[in-house]
Amino acid sequence: MNSRDIRNAFLDFFKSKQHTIVSSAPMVVKNDPTLMFTNAGMNQFKDYFLGNKKAENTKVANTQKCLRVSGKHNDLEEVGIDTYHHTMFEMLGNWSFGDYFKEEAIAWSWELLVDTLKLPQERLYATVFQGDEEDGLQEDIEAYSFWKKYLPEDRILKCSKKDNFWEMGDSGPCGPCSELHIDLRPEEEIAKIPGHKVVNEDDPQVIEIWNLVFIQYNRSVSGQLSELPAKHIDTGMGFERLTRVMQGKSSNYDTDIFQPLIQHVAKLARLEYGKDEKIDIALRVIADHIRAVAFAVADGQLPSNNGAGYVIRRILRRAVRYGYTFLGLKEPFMYQLVNILADQFDGVFPEMAGQKDFIAKVVQEEEASFLRTLDNGLGIINTYLSRSKDEKVVEGKVVFELYDTFGFPLDLTQLIARENGFDVDIKGFEVCLKEQKDRSRKDAASEKTDWVELIHDADVAFLGYDQLEATAKIIKYREITAKNKTMYQLVFDKTPFYAESGGQVGDVGYIEANGQKVSVIDTKKENDLILHFTKELPADTGATFVLKVNAEKRKLTENNHSATHLLHSALKEVLGDHVAQKGSYVSDKLLRFDFSHFSKMTAEEIEKVEKIVNKKIRENIPLEEKRNVPIEDAKSMGATALFGEKYGDFVRVITFDPTYSIELCGGTHVQATGNIGLLKIVSEGSVAAGVRRIEAITADEAEEYIDHNIDLLNQIKEALKNPKDVSKAVEALVQDKNNLQKQIEAFQQQEGETLKREVEATIKTVGELDVLIKKVKLSSADALKQIAFDLKKQYAKLFMVLAADVDGKPQIAVAVGEEALKKDLHAGNIVRELAKNIQGGGGGQPFFATAGGKNLAGLDNVVAKAEEFISIKEEN
Ligand code: SER
Repeated sequence: MNSRDIRNAFLDFFKSKQHTIVSSAPMVVKNDPTLMFTNAGMNQFKDYFLGNKKAENTKVANTQKCLRVSGKHNDLEEVGIDTYHHTMFEMLGNWSFGDYFKEEAIAWSWELLVDTLKLPQERLYATVFQGDEEDGLQEDIEAYSFWKKYLPEDRILKCSKKDNFWEMGDSGPCGPCSELHIDLRPEEEIAKIPGHKVVNEDDPQVIEIWNLVFIQYNRSVSGQLSELPAKHIDTGMGFERLTRVMQGKSSNYDTDIFQPLIQHVAKLARLEYGKDEKIDIALRVIADHIRAVAFAVADGQLPSNNGAGYVIRRILRRAVRYGYTFLGLKEPFMYQLVNILADQFDGVFPEMAGQKDFIAKVVQEEEASFLRTLDNGLGIINTYLSRSKDEKVVEGKVVFELYDTFGFPLDLTQLIARENGFDVDIKGFEVCLKEQKDRSRKDAASEKTDWVELIHDADVAFLGYDQLEATAKIIKYREITAKNKTMYQLVFDKTPFYAESGGQVGDVGYIEANGQKVSVIDTKKENDLILHFTKELPADTGATFVLKVNAEKRKLTENNHSATHLLHSALKEVLGDHVAQKGSYVSDKLLRFDFSHFSKMTAEEIEKVEKIVNKKIRENIPLEEKRNVPIEDAKSMGATALFGEKYGDFVRVITFDPTYSIELCGGTHVQATGNIGLLKIVSEGSVAAGVRRIEAITADEAEEYIDHNIDLLNQIKEALKNPKDVSKAVEALVQDKNNLQKQIEAFQQQEGETLKREVEATIKTVGELDVLIKKVKLSSADALKQIAFDLKKQYAKLFMVLAADVDGKPQIAVAVGEEALKKDLHAGNIVRELAKNIQGGGGGQPFFATAGGKNLAGLDNVVAKAEEFISIKEEN
């Protein structure tokens, strides 16, 4: 069976058991501050487990794109070194939301593996939870007894919390689990050491393939476990591992999932896979990492300098670096793999094929820029190695700089160091690393208390599409502290407040009960919960509240949101169908729209886009809003769906003229496009490789912008005495100014030369010096400097002080000739002293210094003081 067939076999099996097949959630997580990336199939169903939301289908199955590179589940360091861990992988899962439990989950897993997929049952082992004293939990005897129907007791192993109690993060839904392991070792080895001794011992041939989690608890922030109201099943089978087992390979990388990628890179590098472990590791790292990077980009996460973007950047760099060091690939190459992925996942994850050119472009640019950094970093370490002759250790500080700024992993620095006979100060590096981690932890730290639940099992209704005011009760609340500020998050059973999502900012407004008004300063989503942020907790949390949205802000925001839809269609019309939304921000002030496009928009293109949008605004097209449209229907209507967005089975469709703009959207919109008034694009620029950003304003803001610009123009006209053609008049003015400038420069040069001749004639010999102290008048400071430099060059014994009136401002220039310098004269010090007479300051070099001041009348004093100074100096 090829991998495609295996995936389908899993899904078909659960379809036959009345499961609904759902699509994978995006790998990049939005609306969940506790997670950056989907790290398990259950992430998208968290709300069902927590009882925040009721599932429409209580039995579902899917394949979920997961990424385990941060947080509680992080496999990054193993990847490539071993043959069965991955950064990005597919998790095949079947789910019960308060429906079936342990018995069916176990029975079906056995039926699928043994009866359908025909895995050798004598090689299968099941593990069950042995209980835990600290958590006060008993052994999972239920699971044990169900397994006994299929397996002899010596192949059911009891294991500890570490392996058999599943938790997604530090808090949240969790429960005991039962894992299926398979022993793929040759018979001789099995005869020597029986399988039950090797399960969970990191033997690459004895691996876990399926984890059945029995979600029955919730762990609170303080660590306490409580029983969930309903019990659920969450299973996860590693698709790549299953494929390896089914295809009889000894490594995941030998399957048809990874081989096309590995073979492509091997060919590029003119190397062969399977000959040299170092090269094989590099090839595996690359084949693994390109999947993580490409799928993240497909889901809208571009590489960047912080957060999820930084994680993606580091993964890409890790792969490029392996290619550079072990395969000799010094030019971008990873981007070529995107095409292979697009073919592999065609029809499975359509976001890959749909955006392959864009993804390849992003990857290529990122590779190119890292290769430049890599070169710079290599330069730095090589200089370091050639300079430090005595101590043959690379300092921790330097290792950290290479790591942090140039993306050099520790092992690369170690490798280079070793080649040059150097050690690496690992302790010092770790100290720097820890300091950095502590710093960012401090920055990001926000502490939350557990929810205080006032109403159990309540449904939350969002009313904000139809009304801006409602009465409601608090279901639950908690306190959060971030950066020393305490705030509250309140969840109501009903709310008109729109929570930030789909680029649209959250509503602000207030809640009121018993005469107490509390401001809502923001509204955000956490999964499907709508959190109202307040600075104080209402005195009576059990009261019935009036909730009121700030209508003015909401209206302006809606203008911008609807304008974004009009803009999106206009961009497609003008630039082409490759334009895909890459991000947006919509507030009451402006809209920002990021989209894939490879070149700067021309002024004509921008004008065309504006014209189309404004025409649509004037057509005053009424809003057509359809809620609860089955997703398939919406797609066949031609609605634009965004890659990387998580859509449910039912969606909301926003249409402004069915022939112009149909989008899947949860945001709030104007009733008719005429409300938008006017759209004005104020900027267009690049935000990342292949991504452009437009900023635009509408309605009042656009009107103000135009008024302001007309005012400005009127002022200019007036200043120019109302010429017929303003732009010609300005051009002429600039031309005149340039001509005059040239004349002035010529005049100043002449003035300088004349002055120089005049002052030169007054140079007197005093002792061993050629002294020139004089008050002068001229129009340019440059000329003064020129005179000083010319004379200094001509007279080696020069001591010059010019007290100048430069166009009405006092200035002093002091110059000291080459020979005169030996007499301990320091122009900088002298000028500073003299400047006191003109209430000024300055300084400079020993041979030349200047000072400016405020008091023109003081120039005579400067001359007198300078003369006095030089006569005393010479007497001594
Ligand atoms: N959540 C479990 C895991 O990730 C099973 O899906 O292993």
